[in-house]
Order: sequence, then structure tokens, then C-alpha cells
Amino acid sequence: MAIVEKLHVHRFRNLSNQYLEPNKNINLLLGKNAQGKTNFIEALYYLGHNRSFKTKRTKDIIPFDCNLLQVGAIIDDARVLLKKTNSRSEITINQQKAQNNSQLSQLLPTQIISPDRGFVVGGAPKLKRSYLDWGVFHINPNLLTTYKSYNKTLKNINLLLVKNNTKELEYWMSKLAHLSTDISKARIEYIQTLNDTIKETEKSNKVDFFQQAGDLSMNFQNGWIRGVDPLSYDSVFGYLSTNIQSFVRLKHLGCGPHKANIEYSLNNKTENHLSRGEQKTLSLVYWMVQVLLLVEKNIKPVVLIDDISSELDQHKINQILQFLSALDVQLFITDIGNTPLNLSQENTTIFQINNGIISQ
Ligand SMILES: Nc1ncnc2c1ncn2[C@@H]1O[C@H](COP(=O)(O)OP(=O)(O)OP(=O)(O)O)[C@@H](O)[C@H]1O
Ligand SMILES: [Mg+2]
Repeated sequence: MAIVEKLHVHRFRNLSNQYLEPNKNINLLLGKNAQGKTNFIEALYYLGHNRSFKTKRTKDIIPFDCNLLQVGAIIDDARVLLKKTNSRSEITINQQKAQNNSQLSQLLPTQIISPDRGFVVGGAPKLKRSYLDWGVFHINPNLLTTYKSYNKTLKNINLLLVKNNTKELEYWMSKLAHLSTDISKARIEYIQTLNDTIKETEKSNKVDFFQQAGDLSMNFQNGWIRGVDPLSYDSVFGYLSTNIQSFVRLKHLGCGPHKANIEYSLNNKTENHLSRGEQKTLSLVYWMVQVLLLVEKNIKPVVLIDDISSELDQHKINQILQFLSALDVQLFITDIGNTPLNLSQENTTIFQINNGIISQ
């Protein structure tokens, strides 16, 4: 169970030397526009991923007036420190060098919803795959190596396609077909679990958010063309090997799990026909169900909600808070503070942020 016990944002965008001891339940950060709310959420996310959800460039995050970003925390008794310059990065957990990023994400699994990241419903396929695979990894950490090998294999194949080296291609395509079936299988199973969990939650009547949302569905496009069975090695490999020449012409492999997508719909309307509010509500349903699934697997993520009240009505906000409070996860919520939120006083700490300075 991940709990951020102490947080020290030394240098991160407009935050400098901010120290806080978060509540193990709900933390509400209030501030006007451009005070540093999203930066704060991004700093926590950074600590769990060693990357941002807003930018790929370290230099965007390093404060304007220095050459280093630095965030530290105590998470479940472990001391984590992350320091980065434009060219170097240093991450330690209990003063030992961290092995890899997955060590960080296991220590601090985060579940985030932020307008700056975009919502999964109505979002880019990449965001949808990342939503899906985040769940897949946490349920089955062994798949991390499968994904890594898949990406390496795909890179090799694309290189060989550019060089028109068809001799070696067959070996790599066979390897890719094996890895592809493992990934598709895990994704399909996870989607099934998501759907089952939504149905159970609807039935349990605990939150009407799920029923109110309407009739939801998720159409998974596995990344292969119609007619290829993503769960069959023979079918995938057969398709790859008979079409080598057309891949050589294109100089890259434009199909496979790296091109998978999900199309969401609500009451038979596909996602592009939904309003922003509907897209956000639907994104939240899928997002909350993912939190629920993780909690059921005994992995308690730290939940980050940026700008909670934008695009949602009061009733929906209360439902989300009620749902998450019942799961007993640590929450970090930011809000502009125009309307009071319905939070239990004993479990909540309210912080104010003003020009990068946080006060309780
Ligand atoms: N590398 C950086 N160094 C210093 N300041 C930065 C850096 N990057 C962004 N900022 C500034 O941080 C400020 C706060 O940004 P942030 O996105 O956190 O605001 P916010 O409180 O979430 O506002 P909103 O309510 O509009 O979403 C902005 O004024 C931005 O210009
Ligand atoms: Mg913001």
C-alpha cells in the first residue's frame, strides 16, 4: 500500500523547497490559476515514473533559474530521491541506486487524471494503450519483459525492412508473433476483467455514478487487420510472412499490438460524438474501475486528481470522492476552490498554493 508520508519538492518548475507531510487519506490543494497545482501533481507523478505526463524534455521541468530538478519523499518508510539535470539523472531508494523505473512504479504506483494529460475517452490511441497496459503490468508484472522484448523486436524488424534484409526477417517475425499473442491475450483478459468489474459495481448499487453514466462499452482493436486472429501464433506469423514484400515497400511494420486502440461508447454513441463532460465522466468510470481492481489485488495506488471540478457537476464530484474514500487510498486533489467540496474534515488536510508556495 503506497502512502506518501513526507514530500520534499526541492526544485520542480515553479516549486522550490516545498516540504509537506501529507494526510494518509485526502489532501486537497487549492489555488488560483497558474499557482503550481498541476506542477505539484506532476512532481508526484514524476517520482513514481521518472517521467512527466506533460513533456518528454527534462529542460521544461527544470526551474527557469537553475539547472537541476529534484524531488524527494518518504514512501512507506522508504526514502526516495530523484535528481536530474539535462544530461544526468540520479535516483536512489534508501540511498541505493534504483535499478530501473519499474522499481519506482512499484514503490509509488500512481493513478492520475488530469486535463493536461488528456482523458482516455476521446484521447489519442497512445494514451489508451498506456491506460490499458498500466493495468496489465500491475496485475501481471511479468509482462513487462514481454513488452520490452516486443519493442526491441519491432525495432529490429523496422531496421531490417529499411535495409531490405529479408533473410533475417523471418526469425524476427516469428519472435514478434509469439510476443504479440502474449500481449494481446493479456490485454483481452484485462478488458474482460474491467467490464466484469463495471457490471459488478453497477449491481452493487453503492455508487450511482456507474449507472448514471449510462450504457458503456469498450471496443478493443487489437492492432492487426481483420481476419488475423491475435491469439493465434500461426495466424499472426502466417500474415506477417506472406506480406513481407509489402512491409519492405512501406519500410516499417504498421500493424500489431503497438497500433492497438480502444473505441469507447456511451449509449451507442461513439466517443467522438460525446461532449467534453461526457468524455470526462466516462474516462472517470474506467479510471475508477482501474483503481478498484488494483485495490482488490492489494496494490493501493496513490490517486492524483488535477482540477477536480472542471467539467463535472457537484453530484459527480461527491460520488467520485465517496467511491475513492471507501477504497481507503491516499488522494491528492487540486482545485481552484470556487465551490466547496464535500469532504470529511477528519480525513482531509487542506493546503493552499500561492505562487509556488504551499501552506497548510
Ligand atoms: N520550468 C519552469 N520553471 C518555473 N516555472 C515554470 C516552469 N514551467 C512552468 N512554470 C510556471 O508554473 C506556473 C504554474 O503552472 P501550473 O500548470 O502548475 O498552474 P496551475 O496552478 O495548475 O494553473 P491552472 O489552474 O491554470 O491549471 C505557470 O505560471 C508556469 O509558467
Ligand atoms: Mg493546472
